[in-house]
Amino acid sequence: MKISRRAERIEPFYVMEVAKAASQLAREVARSDQPMIFLNIGEPDFTAPPLVQEAAVRAIHDGRTQYTDATGLPALRERISGWYQERFGVNVPARRIVVTAGASAALQLACLALIDTGDEILMPDPSYPCNRHFVSAAEGEAVLIPTTAQERYQLSAAKVQEHWRARTRGVLLASPSNPTGTSIHPDELRRIHSFVQAKGGITLLDEIYLGLSYEDTFGHTALAIDDNVVSINSFSKYFNMTGWRLGWMVVPEQLVPVVERLAQNLFICPSTVAQYAALACFAPESIAEYERRRAEFKARRDWFIPALQSMGLQVPVVPDGAFYAWADCSAVAHKLGVEGSWDFAFEVMKRAHVAVTPGRDFGQADTGRFVRFSTANSMAQLQEAAARLKGVLS
Ligand SMILES: Cc1ncc(COP(=O)(O)O)c(C=O)c1O
Repeated sequence: MKISRRAERIEPFYVMEVAKAASQLAREVARSDQPMIFLNIGEPDFTAPPLVQEAAVRAIHDGRTQYTDATGLPALRERISGWYQERFGVNVPARRIVVTAGASAALQLACLALIDTGDEILMPDPSYPCNRHFVSAAEGEAVLIPTTAQERYQLSAAKVQEHWRARTRGVLLASPSNPTGTSIHPDELRRIHSFVQAKGGITLLDEIYLGLSYEDTFGHTALAIDDNVVSINSFSKYFNMTGWRLGWMVVPEQLVPVVERLAQNLFICPSTVAQYAALACFAPESIAEYERRRAEFKARRDWFIPALQSMGLQVPVVPDGAFYAWADCSAVAHKLGVEGSWDFAFEVMKRAHVAVTPGRDFGQADTGRFVRFSTANSMAQLQEAAARLKGVLS
């Protein structure tokens, strides 16, 4: 069968390949005294809080399961708008909010709406692999620009300027980022955006981890900068609803009908049950629970990063958000008789029964030295994982 060139260009998502190997080994060691600890998948260990679960059940019982508007339930768009006001002090009118099947659908819609064949989109290396694949699927070219720890693994205005060419259409940044958990400084983002605007380009911000920010300097939405920023968000991370497949995007006014047209054709609408459930995310009780969980994620970061550093796994920049640690394993890999983060990850999985993600997925620059730990696991599991890692690395 002839496969399209578009599909052939999309690389496998290695995180999932590693996850498959980890699950296989987990079954084998399930009854050992060291069952597998999963620090490889970027998914909160919490589930939707009670009010949200109840709202979903109520929607099903009441038969509120028909299609909604392609842009989502008006009431949900209003609640999201209210969240921007309360949490970030930013006025984002509901009419600019489009509810989607996760950030993934929002990113696809953004790419299809804005990218033409051959258009180049600048992105930092390392970055979330699917984002460059969304660009490819829209027949654009993702241009990965190597970043440094000093830049918090984010693009700078100088680098954007340096790499901007005739075919460049814009930038796609994630802040906080996956895999590093680091955010772009708001001043730098402002500088990037004014350069991009002057070029007639687009600034696309993946803000899926914004709700999980731990430092005042960084926890601001890019929507505060300008109405022309396209921001992507999700119920997956802060709202702990990964499998419900619900997210949203905020777009400039003139883009709403374009995205709506695409969404009607490609998705009809996001999951209706998930949307009714999500209305309850913004109840004071739910927000209080999410904030407790955010504090828990921060406490895990504060414990786990020093633990990694103490065993020679350097984390060059302390993450200010999300639940990842981007750790350099090059100083300790030889202790396991290997070189490079791919083999290191598999060796750690086999010897310590701790699943981590090798850097390979996230770019080309320095990713052979780095592994990504996810701290979306209980403190007890993180402590056990650290003890096992220490055991095999000493
Ligand atoms: C940076 C980033 N963007 C987008 C996504 C996709 O998330 P969703 O579950 O909302 O589709 C993820 C998922 O891990 C992510 O890390």
